Parts: sequence; structure tokens; C-alpha cells
Amino acid sequence: GVGGSRHPSIPLPVDLFKAADGHRNSMGLDLSDRPTLERMVGVVNAPLRNQPGEGRGPASGDSQLDPGLRRGGEEVRDAVSRAHAAFPAWNATPVDARAACLERLADLLEEHRDELMAICVQEAKKSIPDAIGEVREAADFCRYYAVEARRRLQAVELPGPTGERNMLHVEGRGVWATVAPWNFPLAIFLGQTAAALVAGNTVVAKPAPQTPLIARRAVELAHEAGVPADALVLVTGGPEVGQALTEDVRVMGVAFTGSTATAKRIARTLVQDDDQEGPGRPIVPLIAETGGINAMIVDSTALPEQVVADVVTSAFRSAGQRCSALRLLLVQEDVADGLIEMLKGAMDTLTVGDPGDPATDVGPVIDRAAFDRLMNYREQVRDRWIKTVDAPTEGLFVPPTAIRLGSVEELNQEWFGPLLHIATWKAGELRETIARVNAKGYGLTMGLHSRIARAAEVAEAEAAVGNLYVNRSMIGAVVGSQPFGGEGLSGTGPKAGGPHYLYRFTAERAVSVDT
Ligand code: SER
Repeated sequence: GVGGSRHPSIPLPVDLFKAADGHRNSMGLDLSDRPTLERMVGVVNAPLRNQPGEGRGPASGDSQLDPGLRRGGEEVRDAVSRAHAAFPAWNATPVDARAACLERLADLLEEHRDELMAICVQEAKKSIPDAIGEVREAADFCRYYAVEARRRLQAVELPGPTGERNMLHVEGRGVWATVAPWNFPLAIFLGQTAAALVAGNTVVAKPAPQTPLIARRAVELAHEAGVPADALVLVTGGPEVGQALTEDVRVMGVAFTGSTATAKRIARTLVQDDDQEGPGRPIVPLIAETGGINAMIVDSTALPEQVVADVVTSAFRSAGQRCSALRLLLVQEDVADGLIEMLKGAMDTLTVGDPGDPATDVGPVIDRAAFDRLMNYREQVRDRWIKTVDAPTEGLFVPPTAIRLGSVEELNQEWFGPLLHIATWKAGELRETIARVNAKGYGLTMGLHSRIARAAEVAEAEAAVGNLYVNRSMIGAVVGSQPFGGEGLSGTGPKAGGPHYLYRFTAERAVSVDT
């Protein structure tokens, strides 16, 4: 791995990964076992019980939701009022008790795994393996933040060189707004929320308009796990609800995952003072995690078979709808032709189809708007296609497509779907190539495939990204092992699933008493 033994290793909390039997296909589910697979396919495709919409999740937007889930500005203010009133008691609850709630929640997520998977498949159109990963990651976040909270959020006594008693207290800040994306509607929704809660904050949580059902179930389970009803309040709806939430001056922090444009809009809202007379709104933290134009750089020493497998995984799994996904493959000129031929062959093995079908590698994209955007662009660049894959014509299936570019500079936008751009670079220009990727201003993930140790060192030193992956795929950051989050246009930097994340949700207070 990068750095190898030069860096000290940080031991994992012992009770993390309680059910660990391999991170990828976890929680005792072995999909190569035929009866298990058949049972799971039955479960994820069965009509959802007690859910609106005739047993199917809404196709897109919140138009099919029951009215009880819709909230306007008034309801947002009411939600913030409840969370605001609940803050002192929750903040005064010992860290250990708050952490125990998260651990019970993790247990409940695992108990309700099949139901949660079914909602993920039907509402968010997750493939079965992705839905397994989703529930697992949500449980991992809860357990990890519970352990980290106990370890890090206790008051500590600091030296008092002149005889005073110095204490550092770590507390909640107040009401946090957590605003989540549809692509990890359980894991990121709960990850942000669990971190804010365990740090002593109360939360008003807003899922993406495409995925309210899974969020509602997650909040119910959190309440069942012991989080007071008013310490975690759900609001659902579109951008107007998010706007009302971030405009509320009682919100003392925002954790957001979504687009760069929305992150900037939230940042602007948070510094706006409507009341010109008073002292104005407090200055509050924004944790933003957005997208990227993620590149993988391949040199002539890389193992082609491994590269191709990792490219297919990174670019096309989850229909390319991960913020970590590979968007721009940069192959050293000398080996490009051979590698591209192999990649075409590998793409031919992809099955595009219904998310509830276990044979599916690539499912549909999230909604009609995303489909139209991706398909229009794909059509515009038709003369540059290197390879495209057969896909059903009924439904929102974007055929996985590889697109040839003349240079790194030709791609300046994140296409959030199964579209892979390919360009070449010249031998001896690794440093320059990384600089050209950095120049795009995003900084989420980068991949490098090379068997030259020096190349990995150069990438480690030069790549301005939050997550660098060497000789492996670029997706699927594991909680506690690959803290995840980007910089620049990709976000404000805090690493979800990392040891420093919880501090970003806290207020630290130093108390010095002379004796
Ligand atoms: N945590 C996710 C991943 O690493 C984000 O997209 O793939």
C-alpha cells in the first residue's frame, strides 16, 4: 500500500466489524450459496409492507409519497424548534449512553437488514450487492462512531504549569442539519446523522427527495434504539426544504453530501444575515462532501488484467453513481491500445438490467432527469465512443460507455453515471499528468496503477485528493480503514469514517481554574 511501513499503524477499535467476515459481502450473506441467493431475491423484490405507492418505492421525486412525509417551511421551523429544545438534555447525556444508542441502532440495522435492503433496491434502485454494502456501511458507521466517541469526546485534564486546573471539554454545538444524497440513502444519511448525534448535537435530518422511505425507516430505528424523538427529527422534500432548514438561524452546523453547486449555495446561506439590526447569525461550520472528476493513471508497468478489472469496478459498478467513481482513465500512450482492447472485452461481460436481479452488474440510474442528462451528453459525443454495452431500452438504463478524449483538459464536468472517459499520457510525464488532473480543482479520489515504487511516492506527494488508491479499485472506502472525503471543489475535507471526524461536530471548551 501507499507509504507501507513508513507510517505507524493505528489499531482498529476491537469491537468494530463485529460481524466481519469480509467487508464486501458481509453480515453472513454468501451470495454464491444458491438457496440464500434465491431467498434474498424474493425478499428484495417483494412488495414493501406499510409503504405508500402500491408496494413500490417512488420512481423519482417525492410525488408519490404520502402527505405525512411532506414538509414545508412551517414544518421545518417546527422540526428545528423541537431539536433546539431537546439539545440541552441530549448534550448532557453521558457520551457512553449516546454511544450505546448508536450500537443498538447498528444491531437493529442488522436485524432489519432484509427489509432495509428491499427499500434500497426498490427506492434507490441499488443492486443486491450494493444494497448489502449499504446496510453494512450504515452499521459500521454507527459502531465506529460509538467507539470513537467514547475514546475521544471525554473531558481531558491538561497541564497547569502555574498551578491552575485546566480542563478541555468536548461538547455538542446545538442543532445540526444533516442533508443526505440519494446514492447512499442509508449509509451516508445515517453516517452524518450518527456522528452529529453522538457528539451531543440534536439533528434535523433531510434525505434526498428521491429516497425518503429508507430515511424514514432509519429514523424509526434510531428512535427505537433510544435516541429521543426530538433529538432526531426527519424532514423530507426538495431544495426548498433544504433551503428553509439552512436558513434557520438556530442551526449550528450543517453536514451535507451532494453536489458542489448545492454546497456553495448552503455556504452562502449560512453567512447571510437577514436581520441587519441585530448581531446577525452565528458563524457555523459546514461539512460538505461533493463530487469529483476522479482520474486513474495507468503506466506501462501495471498489470493489465488487474487494471481492467479495477477500471470496470470503479467506473461502472453502482451505475457509476458514486462520488468516488472513476470518470477519467489516463493510460500511458505506449500501452493504451492493448489495454483499451482488453477493457472492451471486459465491458462485454457486463450485464445491464433490473436492480433486483442478482445477475445485474449495472442497474438503472436514479431518475428521469439524470437519465436524460446522461443520454443527451452521450449522444453528443457519439463520434468518440470506443465501446458501449447493450442495455434494455425500456427504463432508465444508461448503457455503460467508454469515450475517447484528445486530452485531459477536455473533461471539465462530473458525469454522474456509467460513462468513462479515456485519454493518454506520455512516458516520463507522471508528475505533469497529476498536475493536469489537480488543475481541474476537484480533489476526491485518484487511482494509480504501477509496479514502480517511485511512481506511488510521486502520486502520494503530488495528488491533491482526499483518497488515493494505488493498484486497486477506487470505490468502496471502508469505515475505519479508508476515511473518506475530498478537498477543493470536492468538499471541505473532514473524513467520514475516520478518527478525526467527530471533532468537526463539536464545540471544545477550555476551562481554567486558579487554585
Ligand atoms: N464511500 C463511497 C465510496 O468510497 C463514496 O462514494 O465509494
